Amino acid sequence: MDAFSKGIPKAELHLHIEGTLEPEMMFELANRNGVPLRFKSVEEVRAAYEFSDLQSFLDIYYEGARVLLKERDFYDLASAYFVRAAQDGVRRVEMFFDPQTHTERGVSYETVLEGLSRACEDARSRYGISSGLILCFLRHLSGEEAMRTLNGALSSKERLLGVGLDSSERGHPPSKFVEVFARARAEGLRAVAHAGEEGPPDYIRQALDLLKVERIDHGVRCLEDAELVARLKRDRVPLTVCPLSNVKLRVFETLGTHNLRRLLEAGLAASIHSDDPAYFGGYIGENFAAAQKALDLSADEVRTLARNSVEACFVESGAKRALLDEVDAFRL
Ligand code: HPA
Ligand code: ZN
Repeated sequence: MDAFSKGIPKAELHLHIEGTLEPEMMFELANRNGVPLRFKSVEEVRAAYEFSDLQSFLDIYYEGARVLLKERDFYDLASAYFVRAAQDGVRRVEMFFDPQTHTERGVSYETVLEGLSRACEDARSRYGISSGLILCFLRHLSGEEAMRTLNGALSSKERLLGVGLDSSERGHPPSKFVEVFARARAEGLRAVAHAGEEGPPDYIRQALDLLKVERIDHGVRCLEDAELVARLKRDRVPLTVCPLSNVKLRVFETLGTHNLRRLLEAGLAASIHSDDPAYFGGYIGENFAAAQKALDLSADEVRTLARNSVEACFVESGAKRALLDEVDAFRL
């Protein structure tokens, strides 16, 4: 079952590229760029990855991102990620990046975009992985700052697939970002948002009604609201669920008590992804394998999860059909 879960063709739709920074690369880039780290060793960094909630993770995640300065750093980061993705049966990646984390430190948007875009192009020729970039706004910052970030990105909007919303959820409702999402959609960008990870079901509703997003990232708290569940089911709104992340950030105590099976049983379009794999202990293949084991998912259920990831992709219908055929034909 492990090999089946890892090998089945799938799409990665919830991955923060800054969250793929492995401690080894953190040290390599810190040395290369002369950035001081408060950690003495890779082991010390890994030992610090004990989180009590989302914020305790974000503090260390933003600290780690300080080593990313040059275009080459972003290229190396994403290139290393694609090596792992190819090993996990990933055929399509819709990758989140957080420009404000970098522009705040004086790194230009173009530097970030160019490094990531180049890695995405190489992934197509090297591994046959197609990909797109989703610019995420940091929700702990203001709507005006998000709008400034979007304005800076629109001159090269053809290099983006869409926009997203991440960072500290509690106290930062989707309603803060109505104008910037409206503008992004008017410019032809797709829209997704994190909601219902730590925040209440109402944030999921706001993301749909006010931001008009096409997918919900996480969304696991929807089960607290039966009316919302009925709507998500009726409209087949994709939920990009990240099981290992949810346990590391204490959204669920254990994988065995994760609600993924209940989401599927409720008829929801849930899929499995990895969020910040360098921090949470596993890439998408490990998320599939660990969830399969802990929740005793059948091969058919694993295939459904892989199909759901492809159904939720922002690709044209022919490409989607071809990927679905690959999922359906997969045998060990
Ligand atoms: N939630 C919110 N923001 C994030 C996350 C997450 O899991 N990872 C990186 N930024
Ligand atoms: Zn996330």
